[in-house]
Amino acid sequence: MEKRTITIEYQKYSLEEIPEHLRSVAKAAREVSLGSYAPYSRFHVGAAILLADGDILTGSNQENAAFPSSLCAERTAAYHASAVKPGIPMKAIAIAAWTRIGHPSDARPEECWQKAPISPCGACRQALLEYETLHGDMEVLLLGADTAYLFPSVKSLLPFSFTEF
Ligand code: THU
Repeated sequence: MEKRTITIEYQKYSLEEIPEHLRSVAKAAREVSLGSYAPYSRFHVGAAILLADGDILTGSNQENAAFPSSLCAERTAAYHASAVKPGIPMKAIAIAAWTRIGHPSDARPEECWQKAPISPCGACRQALLEYETLHGDMEVLLLGADTAYLFPSVKSLLPFSFTEF
């Protein structure tokens, strides 16, 4: 028997410290979360993808009365980007979330950012990994109310991933 360990390295920033090249995509993730359709969970998520040509394409979570028909913000954004700009490498994704749960019912979204940086679900990591495998590393910026975590790639968030058969 051999014991093995996986270490994931990431950077923690205050929002003011976010690296220059990621500032616009971070802002776009917060902005697009305002258009989320989440009447069931009341958890609103926005994702923005920075493409190699400098464009930023976005998406938010869209829920449905038939719950499994809903789609997370990250996949909405990635499929949007791949549909509109096929083959252009995705260099970074930023993700932000807010909820009025625990806040006054008339609170502004800007007062309700999720405290801890939002982390993408396994299905979204898998979907993002496909584009990363095709086109190279995609930085992942997870935004919280006052802090952000930056991972160098999608694969760093999905060890032992399934990429081919
Ligand atoms: N959701 C996302 O859009 N992205 C995530 O990273 C986590 C969860 C959505 C799915 C659902 O609409 C709501 O947030 C609650 O799970």
